[in-house]
Amino acid sequence: MSWWDKVETYWKVAALTDELTISSINNVREPSWELVNGNCLEILDKLFKERGEFVDLIFCDPPYFLSNGGITCQNGKMVKVDKGDWDKSEGPKLNHEFNTEWLKRCQKILKPNGTIMVSGTFHVIYSIGFAMQELDMKILNNITWQKPNPPPNLACRYFTHSTETVIWASKNQKSKHTFNYNLMKEINGGKQMKDVWTMTAPGKKEKEYGKHPTQKPIDLLLRLIVAASNEGDLVLDAFNGSGTTGVACIETKRNYIGIELDKEYIKLSKKRFKSKESEMKSRLF
Ligand SMILES: C[S@@+](CC[C@H](N)C(=O)[O-])C[C@H]1O[C@@H](n2cnc3c(N)ncnc32)[C@H](O)[C@@H]1O
Repeated sequence: MSWWDKVETYWKVAALTDELTISSINNVREPSWELVNGNCLEILDKLFKERGEFVDLIFCDPPYFLSNGGITCQNGKMVKVDKGDWDKSEGPKLNHEFNTEWLKRCQKILKPNGTIMVSGTFHVIYSIGFAMQELDMKILNNITWQKPNPPPNLACRYFTHSTETVIWASKNQKSKHTFNYNLMKEINGGKQMKDVWTMTAPGKKEKEYGKHPTQKPIDLLLRLIVAASNEGDLVLDAFNGSGTTGVACIETKRNYIGIELDKEYIKLSKKRFKSKESEMKSRLF
């Protein structure tokens, strides 16, 4: 039995509702999902104006700022690192300014006891951690995602990069954050869950509706979400990408709002969400 099968025994399966519009999210039928196409800085401002502090948990996988002509290995071939214009660096100061601006907006929409998780490589994660401290968030954990089969280092002048970091922080120093300690212990064979998790990068099955260059594994999101939120909570991802956070929310019966600049990734996410909903409904019968 996989760790996720064990978690599933905690919940009875409930029917899922149809797609909602942003206006109807105010009288939400649970659980629901919503995808918003646009720049997260503007959308987060709009959401705060309309709804104030309303989100239980935020997960964000922001641009890593590493698409600047470097090389990497893909399927045994040397290729340029080019994930898209959204991933180009503007230099450390402007990158930090951007990180501070979206983090500030995320902090505003979190409920008083809400938390935020941000993933990244060394290209961005120090700026994220520093901005969180500048905003007086409370850093709760530094989780390391270890990849068992990373691409080789072509330059042979560095150690092979094989990890990404997730920083977990609460809105402020006073927040009483949610942590499902017993559930984490249970899925870890009765021992306390540590902060280093070994998980493979997403395989073909997770990319059956299309590819995203920085797609996260569903297992990583499932574990993060069930650790730090409860069924019926509202989770938001300001850099939705292919919608992995949303898929994990549908699976675990959380409500979800995803914000994404690129219309093609919105389309891809919708396909993934609808497929997950059908799978969940078919489990009822
Ligand atoms: C690192 S990827 C997220 C991948 C995602 N975690 C997944 O599993 O598919 C970052 C995403 O943020 C989007 N993005 C970049 N800047 C943005 C902005 N200012 N507002 C909203 N989305 C943005 C990009 O188009 C990209 O799809």
